[in-house]
Amino acid sequence: MANKINSGDSRTRSSVSIFIVAGLCCFFYLLGAWQRSGFGKGDSIALEMTRNGAECNILPNLNFETHHSGEAVDESESKKVFKPCHHRYTDYTPCQDQRRAMTFPRENMIYRERHCVPQEEKLHCLIPAPKGYVTPFPWPKSRDYVPFANAPYKSLTVEKAIQNWIQYEGNVFRFPGGGTQFPQGADAYIDQLASVIPIKNGTVRTALDTGCGVASWGAYLWKRNVIAMSFAPRDSHEAQVQFALERGVPAVIGVLGTIKMPYPSKAFDMAHCSRCLIPWGANDGIYMKEVDRVLRPGGYWVLSGPPIHWKNNYKAWQRPKEELQEEQRKIEEIAKLLCWKKISEKGEIAIWQKSKHADSCRGVRDDSQATFCKVADADDVWYSA
Ligand SMILES: *[C@@H]1O[C@H](CO)[C@@H](O)[C@H](O)[C@H]1NC(C)=O
Repeated sequence: MANKINSGDSRTRSSVSIFIVAGLCCFFYLLGAWQRSGFGKGDSIALEMTRNGAECNILPNLNFETHHSGEAVDESESKKVFKPCHHRYTDYTPCQDQRRAMTFPRENMIYRERHCVPQEEKLHCLIPAPKGYVTPFPWPKSRDYVPFANAPYKSLTVEKAIQNWIQYEGNVFRFPGGGTQFPQGADAYIDQLASVIPIKNGTVRTALDTGCGVASWGAYLWKRNVIAMSFAPRDSHEAQVQFALERGVPAVIGVLGTIKMPYPSKAFDMAHCSRCLIPWGANDGIYMKEVDRVLRPGGYWVLSGPPIHWKNNYKAWQRPKEELQEEQRKIEEIAKLLCWKKISEKGEIAIWQKSKHADSCRGVRDDSQATFCKVADADDVWYSA
């Protein structure tokens, strides 16, 4: 009996001392961390951002100057100073210059691919911001509003007026979250996709928007914890992607042409095209094969707009019924060759899923399989065809 009490006592005592030791460890660890952190100096910004994180506010005092003193830099080294370029270069994108582009073949969108200037033609100046450029609105307001001065092009508001992409209001552009394909707004559209694709539970976290326009799709996926990479080619006037960037949505100028997309294989959970004007059925399906490359096994491909739902819409689209029918037939055929399974077609939205065992699709080589080029490294994507 006494023994039992004793052993109980010593157990209590030893757990108390463990508690004290652990407590001291924690205290000194935190003390060390506090001293190292330089708390109250540079980190106050990070801290404040964390505090404000819930509202996603950007600090009014946020700037992009370097905050370190640059100790390592040898002052005696001659610094190269670049002067601003002439004003007419505000839209200059070196490898996407319209005049240069027009000297390349239009076939297969070659002229919209990257064509960089030779060494001797390179500009050695800084591209100036548009006149009157102001700090963009903080997210999430930037999703819906862009100061006119930051992207002073009204052509889209006229061209896409009925489609509700973008509106000009006073000195700002407003993005109503519309798109050609989402008259009820991007949210309602994404809800439709989410009724088929498990977006909510984390199965889909990365997405690719091919032919993104002003990237409203990507902008509205953000709050569903999906990060989208959007691309669209530069137009003859300006790049639509520029609006996306001003909104704070990741986007690049790009096109599906004759070279690979600059993304590694199996990088995306979902790929999307709404009226993106990519001829999916053409060229033996190379564009769908390229999407297949970047989709992970089990990934989803969304195609909305022509030719889907052609039976109802061919008149509105002012296109021959037979042509649209053939276009869809080809897409379905290529999807089958790639072992994609169509999991939904509702209205103008069709959704396929890439096989979870995608490699088995490449294993057997007979006429019922898609043929892929033999490449040493499928992830070697820079400028490779
Ligand atoms: C998410 O939902 C899908 C479809 O209901 C299911 O197949 C998948 O296993 C779920 N994933 C997780 C991580 O819960």
